[in-house]
Amino acid sequence: MRNITIIPSKYRNVTGGVLIGENIGGIPKYVYIPATDFLRHCIIVGTTGSGKTTTASTIVAQLSSYGAVLIMDWYGEYGNLLSGAQVVKPGRSAPIPIPSDEDDMVSIFEEVLELSSAQAYILQRVIDAYKPRTLSELIEYIEIYPTEAKWVIESKHALLRRVSMLLSKEKMFSIGDYRLFKLLKTHQPLVVDLSGIRNIILKRLAVVALLKAIELVKSAGGISDRVFIVLEESHNVVAMGKSLISRMLSEVRKLGIGIILITQSPSILGHSVIMNCNIRIVHALKSRDDIELMSRSIGLSKELTEVIPRLGTGMALVDSPSSTSPELVRVKVHEAAPLTSVITPKSGN
Ligand SMILES: Nc1ncnc2c1ncn2[C@@H]1O[C@H](COP(=O)(O)OP(=O)(O)O)[C@@H](O)[C@H]1O
Ligand SMILES: [Mg+2]
Repeated sequence: MRNITIIPSKYRNVTGGVLIGENIGGIPKYVYIPATDFLRHCIIVGTTGSGKTTTASTIVAQLSSYGAVLIMDWYGEYGNLLSGAQVVKPGRSAPIPIPSDEDDMVSIFEEVLELSSAQAYILQRVIDAYKPRTLSELIEYIEIYPTEAKWVIESKHALLRRVSMLLSKEKMFSIGDYRLFKLLKTHQPLVVDLSGIRNIILKRLAVVALLKAIELVKSAGGISDRVFIVLEESHNVVAMGKSLISRMLSEVRKLGIGIILITQSPSILGHSVIMNCNIRIVHALKSRDDIELMSRSIGLSKELTEVIPRLGTGMALVDSPSSTSPELVRVKVHEAAPLTSVITPKSGN
């Protein structure tokens, strides 16, 4: 009888694949997702501590071989999780770019500062007329904006109050300065550490401005590579269907930009945002609304839906275009990521 070598299915790879982990139940195998599927966006959901950040760092550690990686690091965690990453704290030498395109600038401030239409109108007029190059110039120009009618005076003061909050972190932002993107090299994820910004509005501004800026630079041909972007705490910047970012999701895929949205509250993102992500990774969820929303979006069986609240840390349901049905996966932590902190035993006795 001839000897037949059977390669265990576990070791079969899809060429160009990102290893997610091992499946649980059924024939044991490793679960891979083709890197290009990430250009059609990915959403990772789960309660705090369920394993979202670890899963994202496992993915981007591998995606960095396929394109540039930019991480919006809300809590400053990724520097420790990705050994080869370049960590940048936004500041004068590497400011967060605010797109100099006038319409982009207005829509970013309008959304992040929640401006009324009258305030947005004044801002639009000021930006069109004076083309500010710094935030202090912007504020200065609003101040000198001529005011005849009473509603203009009131709206102008309200606008000034909102825009003035930007001054406390002025050196972190720069209009039309895209130097930061020079650091977007392949094989080395760029981590933008936002943990130093305490104010949530400024944090949102940082994220929204960065995303719009990268879209602008990419569409102008300034970055030739694919770009994969990790967006932590995305419920803070992606409101139900109407935000800049939810609109961006459907527009940027043709530019070669893939976004990985991370959230503990998928209900805040809403069904259409979830449907715009072709890869869905579901860690443990507790809220019934969140569980039902994810189950409906993926089309899960009742059986698999019941599994969601009982998933252990690092376990997830993974649904991707290349798999026929959602799979239950134990996420494999990337080698560069330390599992838990190492406790050094005390010397002596
Ligand atoms: N796949 C995994 N295998 C082993 N440990 C994990 C895994 N995923 C997460 N952990 C551990 O669980 C804890 C919480 O993970 P984290 O990724 O920070 O969760 P989240 O981002 O959802 O809050 C961390 O200590 C992490 O090391
Ligand atoms: Mg996290």
